[in-house]
Amino acid sequence: MSGQPITPLPRCDAAAREDERRLVHRLAVALRTTGFHDPGNTAVQGAIAEFLRTVRTRWAHEQVWVGVRNRCVFVNDERLRIGPSDYLNVRYLMDTFDRWNLGGITFQPGVRDAEMRSVLYELNQKSERGLEELAARARALGLKHVELTEPERESEEPAAHLPLRTYSACLDVCREIQETVREHRHIRTRRLRRVTQAVVDQLLEDESALLSMTTIKEFDDYLFTHSTNVAILSVALGQRLGFDKRTLGDLCLAAFLHDLGKILVPKGILEKPTQLDPGERAQIQQHPIHAVILLLEQEQLNQSTLRAIVAGFEHHINLDLSGYPRLTRKNSVTLFGRIICVADRYDAITTRRSYRKTTSTPHEGVRFLLEHSGTQFEPVLVKLFLEMLGVYPPGTVVGLSSGEVGVVRRPPLPGSALSRPQIRVVRGGDPGTILDLADRDAAGKHPRSVVAVLNPDDDGQLPALCGAEIEALGPIGAMIAEEVPDPPARLPVAR
Ligand SMILES: [Fe+2]
Ligand SMILES: [Fe+2]
Repeated sequence: MSGQPITPLPRCDAAAREDERRLVHRLAVALRTTGFHDPGNTAVQGAIAEFLRTVRTRWAHEQVWVGVRNRCVFVNDERLRIGPSDYLNVRYLMDTFDRWNLGGITFQPGVRDAEMRSVLYELNQKSERGLEELAARARALGLKHVELTEPERESEEPAAHLPLRTYSACLDVCREIQETVREHRHIRTRRLRRVTQAVVDQLLEDESALLSMTTIKEFDDYLFTHSTNVAILSVALGQRLGFDKRTLGDLCLAAFLHDLGKILVPKGILEKPTQLDPGERAQIQQHPIHAVILLLEQEQLNQSTLRAIVAGFEHHINLDLSGYPRLTRKNSVTLFGRIICVADRYDAITTRRSYRKTTSTPHEGVRFLLEHSGTQFEPVLVKLFLEMLGVYPPGTVVGLSSGEVGVVRRPPLPGSALSRPQIRVVRGGDPGTILDLADRDAAGKHPRSVVAVLNPDDDGQLPALCGAEIEALGPIGAMIAEEVPDPPARLPVAR
């Protein structure tokens, strides 16, 4: 644990902008000065000292990124207004970034004078192979607190709102976080924040498209897809609870990080195909505690990371405080912990794992949540989860009253019955056709209804289903809808 104090809350906007402007100005001056003078020159020493003073005053406990996009300078995600007095220095900085095809520089807390001197002189060298060459030189110099980042293309901005892009950005960021923490480096919070924001924006824009992506269950990359799915499901739940964008971003971060502690559990135990012995189970059950330790090692402790630490610790503690880690004093779990607990359990039991003979269908997943509502899971959250995904969540293979077999593609639209999702026909009828089961015919009746749920657990093979078998199963949606408990009078507040 670093023992660093918690980062203070952001200052008012005007003061923050002034700090950012000063930071860029001093960086540009230091860069220009090193371009004209030797390292021993007092002007160089003074310019670097001024820049470091600014960093240490305002960004003592958090990293700061200075970057250029489309000839505009940014500090973290804030675009800077450049005044005439700064123009020459800032243009020198932008030209230097262009020459190296450099997107930006991240300065970590603790950046030293020698590191600044090295990177500034390198930036002033002639560039032949661009960023690749510069990064190789930086590695050779052993720079620990200065990180060079690639340019971010403008064309990627709108695409980040597409569900697939957002989902794959989540996978990348999960992979990056785990590698970073494994190597005891600092998490690049700025990039992480951009991805969590993309998840929140995408869910606000077209929730069902991103929710449908959570049916991706990559067996080999379980931890990445699982963390991503839990983040998406958690944020969608948070949205239904009326969280603001900032709280949703914090929830997304916490969900991304909830299983981080598993990187300290031996892979042989995590992927053991047979039953775990008590010692191995105890090791797995340490992962919420490992997550706390790993996150406390990060130097940038702010409100968001502290929420993630608490939720990571709590995500296997049930509503009735059963589960693990076992506690003697705690009397409740935070709302973030309860949300992630629901999303985590649903995704875990509906994902195929080597140690389980069968996998629950998404439909069985929501049934499991319902069966344990009020004991393991917060009833309000289970009800919202069911409203969000429907009785037959995306990915469920269903038999229809028409004899066709389909896969649920999207949850029912708001206002439609929970048992009437949108499906893609995969067998019988016209394979590939998209059907909305909420549609009615001219007589006002639904031409098709779900009459059976199938478990394609046999390597994706659908079981054969004849009309007589379907009929024998009968409708089941109404029965499940009745199991939803009433919500309490007041919703719990986020903590
Ligand atoms: Fe976990
Ligand atoms: Fe998990």
